Amino acid sequence: MPSFTEALQSQVGRKILTGLTGIFLVLFIIFHLGGNLAILGEPDAMNRYSMFLHDMGPLLWIARIGLLAVFVIHAWLGISIWLRKRKARPNNYAVYSSKGGPSKQGLSSRSMAFTGVVLLIFVIFHINTFALGETQTVMIDGQETHDIKSLVIDTFENSALYAFGYAFVMLLLGTHLGHGIWSAFTSLTLSSKKASAVVYTIGVLLAIVLAVGFLFIPLYIYFGGGCDAALINCN
Ligand code: HEM
Repeated sequence: MPSFTEALQSQVGRKILTGLTGIFLVLFIIFHLGGNLAILGEPDAMNRYSMFLHDMGPLLWIARIGLLAVFVIHAWLGISIWLRKRKARPNNYAVYSSKGGPSKQGLSSRSMAFTGVVLLIFVIFHINTFALGETQTVMIDGQETHDIKSLVIDTFENSALYAFGYAFVMLLLGTHLGHGIWSAFTSLTLSSKKASAVVYTIGVLLAIVLAVGFLFIPLYIYFGGGCDAALINCN
């Protein structure tokens, strides 16, 4: 069995690690979308989600740093695979093939490195805006907590740049996941040739749901006026 460092040297080892880190990130993204959509639920649902995170104390920061590390490792592995592939196949007209059945080459797969780098830059900017952003406080169950909901609403309500910038990045997220989910399952050999088309379709559908779910939030707040909007109640 190859050691961890040997696995990192090989293209197959790197693909497996990229797949594993990618699936972990998709699980986080699904959980995170759930927390964000709480903005449309009970008036204090989103701040309760934030309170749950902040009640973790120092563990929250350990989890955030761990998560960021997984993002960086995933991006580094992805870029190194892409660079090696480019070196091995400088001719764009070469025939593409993959062990997961017919190759799924398209705009989504060819832009993986670009969309991945944009998403990594986005996450750093995003943590600075929301996780480190200055908030007011609110009382929930007699406990003072961060009013993260107002920070999100103020950010998107007052800035077309933020609202449309976020919406654009969420489209890139959808594009990245549209190929990435299938690719992760294929690299981990969890998808046979027969199942490849099904896994690909499920991956694309999940990518669309996640992208639309995320981009709905900034656009709805921007066009709907945050607390005055039909779906968001701030009382
Ligand atoms: C419209 C889309 C999004 C909104 C409104 C949003 C909102 C937020 C908020 C409010 C926080 C701070 C939570 C707190 O401290 O209580 C946060 C943290 C974070 N977000 Fe997002 N987010 C969005 C999309 C994304 C996407 C697409 C990713 C990843 C690709 C992401 C990754 C993170 C990470 C890594 C953190 C820090 C960990 C955490 O506090 O949960 N976010 N986000």
